[in-house]
Amino acid sequence: MTPLLASTRSDLAAARAGLAAPVVLVPTMGALHDGHAALLRRARELAGPAGSVVASIFVNPLQFGPGEDFDRYPRTLDGDLKTCAAAGVVLVFAPGHGDVYPRAPLVTVDPGPAGQLLEGEFRPGFFGGVLTVVLKLFQLVRPQIAVFGEKDAQQLALIRQMAADLDLGVRIESVPTVRDTDGLATSSRNAYLSAAERTRARAIPAALAAGRDAAGDGPGSVLAAARRVLDLGASDGQPLTVDYLSLVHPDTFVPVSGEHAGPAVLAIAARVGRTRLIDNVQLAFGGAD
Ligand code: PAF
Repeated sequence: MTPLLASTRSDLAAARAGLAAPVVLVPTMGALHDGHAALLRRARELAGPAGSVVASIFVNPLQFGPGEDFDRYPRTLDGDLKTCAAAGVVLVFAPGHGDVYPRAPLVTVDPGPAGQLLEGEFRPGFFGGVLTVVLKLFQLVRPQIAVFGEKDAQQLALIRQMAADLDLGVRIESVPTVRDTDGLATSSRNAYLSAAERTRARAIPAALAAGRDAAGDGPGSVLAAARRVLDLGASDGQPLTVDYLSLVHPDTFVPVSGEHAGPAVLAIAARVGRTRLIDNVQLAFGGAD
């Protein structure tokens, strides 16, 4: 069934009034791919036969820094609506800039200490922008549940922290990263890659897989194994510019020690040509900390 399309706050309010609970929201920036389809499928399951799935599509300027890809970010509303229809979405909220930001916000969300690390260090203001728009979407759509992807592990952790610390009353659910057959995590930004860049980008999941395979030998071995794969790519003349490769605690995003026990995230951000990609794998260590 074709979803209702709300492009203003008042359209959204009118459509939201008729939705059966639970309302499950999948916030996106559009250019929907297989990873988003998995989020929508999970949302449909969580909504159950009686509930309602809402998708939002909004390329949020607040989370893009100067010189980043806000202007060239893919915008594919017609195709996105078809993906939403196939996934059983009942309402798509695709607002214009003025409907989300009637004025430049003077009050925004501070992502706290975990928001200053990794992505926060390389993209200052990014998490403040993400959390601010997610909070606004929660206020506008009023979902009981919201679904996010584990590919953006730090974003997911911060959204969970915001929901808990600010008592938002929204249950946060996550979906594992979806990968294409060559191992690359699905991302709207993959569309920027030329065939040669895509081949080079395969070093990212390969490094993460090597790190995961070395997890039995402890945290130190994980980073060394992942680095070896990246160095091999560089010696083949296929270098990536790595912003960070880090093994961190899944809540604080502080690097773990060589004796760490418990869960950890091996996270990477790297640039291939003009395209910046992030990816991660979740690991668990058995030793004593
Ligand atoms: O992950 C994304 O697509 C965006 O960061 C989000 C959560 C929709 C906020 O703009």
